[in-house]
Amino acid sequence: MVEVPPPAAASSASPPPIPLPIASVSIDHAGTAAKAHPPASHSTPGTAGTLSNASNSSWVCPSNRVYPGLVNLSSSPKSGDAADTTGSCTDSSQPFTPFFFATLADTQLGAIENNTSWEEEKVLCRMAVQKLNNLTPRPQFAIVCGDLVHHFPCMYPHTDPAIRDRQVADFKAIFSEVHPSIPLLCVCGNHDVGNAPTPSSLRTFQEDFGDDYFGFWVGGMKGLVINSNLYSDPSQAQDEYDKHHRWLHCELAAARALRAKHILLFGHHPLFLHRDDEEDEEGYLGSSSFRTKAGEVMTIPNTYFHIPRARREKVLEAMHQFGCSHYFCGHWHQNGVSKSARYQVENVITSAVGLQIGEDKSGFRLVKVFEDAVVHKYFSFEDMPAHVFLDLDRKHAW
Ligand SMILES: [Fe+2]
Ligand SMILES: [Fe+2]
Repeated sequence: MVEVPPPAAASSASPPPIPLPIASVSIDHAGTAAKAHPPASHSTPGTAGTLSNASNSSWVCPSNRVYPGLVNLSSSPKSGDAADTTGSCTDSSQPFTPFFFATLADTQLGAIENNTSWEEEKVLCRMAVQKLNNLTPRPQFAIVCGDLVHHFPCMYPHTDPAIRDRQVADFKAIFSEVHPSIPLLCVCGNHDVGNAPTPSSLRTFQEDFGDDYFGFWVGGMKGLVINSNLYSDPSQAQDEYDKHHRWLHCELAAARALRAKHILLFGHHPLFLHRDDEEDEEGYLGSSSFRTKAGEVMTIPNTYFHIPRARREKVLEAMHQFGCSHYFCGHWHQNGVSKSARYQVENVITSAVGLQIGEDKSGFRLVKVFEDAVVHKYFSFEDMPAHVFLDLDRKHAW
């Protein structure tokens, strides 16, 4: 049995609030020249790092393991394994300013009609953008937790590989309409890099969307986006997985050292579906059955959905050690919220914008971040509020 220390965030000596501005300063790849970034924008060319090309020059991509515009004012993002722990982002004289963000999942253009069409997903994605842009006040960011598109050539070897490019282009065209003041962060899902990612599949994703794992800061909150596909099956990219896990550990430690008020993790695969100790072979406990449009009933075992226990516990232990309280993900195409009492981590699965395999309706989750709490709720598009209360006496009101 591994002895786990109490979560840092729950200790009586919890750090003071850390209000941070969104506009910030970044350091270039060589770590030598700093320049000011405006808040990230999907219509501002030139902020997309090094991965822009003619088709996505306005698309903002994380690079150098950070999301442009969402960096700590006083710490230097660095490439490689090590996170920077110099400087301080604390300002205890300032009160914590509550904010909120939106987490979406599984837009997955092409899933409903098995890549023959994705008109239905396009309608749903446009609805998501409309609902995001309609929110008052504006969310500080929105994050799509993977399976941006459905077609992945290795999964559908008899289908035209160019379909993926068209799905990616449509995804970007639609989500470029997100209001420029709302940074849109994209997570890679198994349909984006494969069930067992390879260096090549990771490169393809990076060319379209930037880094497959990265960190960011918002208002004293440290967010860490992981590539959960590497935790699900690292067999084809073991070096990448090792490097990734070292990075995660360093980033969690650095966030703690910089006295982040909250540390939240984002990925695609759920760490677990129901219990933190559910076994890999508990294949059909909580399994998902659904009927496809063609009338076929599909039953998918847990092993497809959750991260295998050995690597799951590595993530949970690291989260617990440094006081990372929540993990937001998708992949299950239905909502599910469960907490690990042992690790003090809430595992929050958000249903899909696109194809549903449970009883939920398409929508996304709103997450309110207060000094002492993270409060969240999933809304279908039809029930989505237009206004989000951030005053302390309506912390749990929507
Ligand atoms: Fe999915
Ligand atoms: Fe998935």
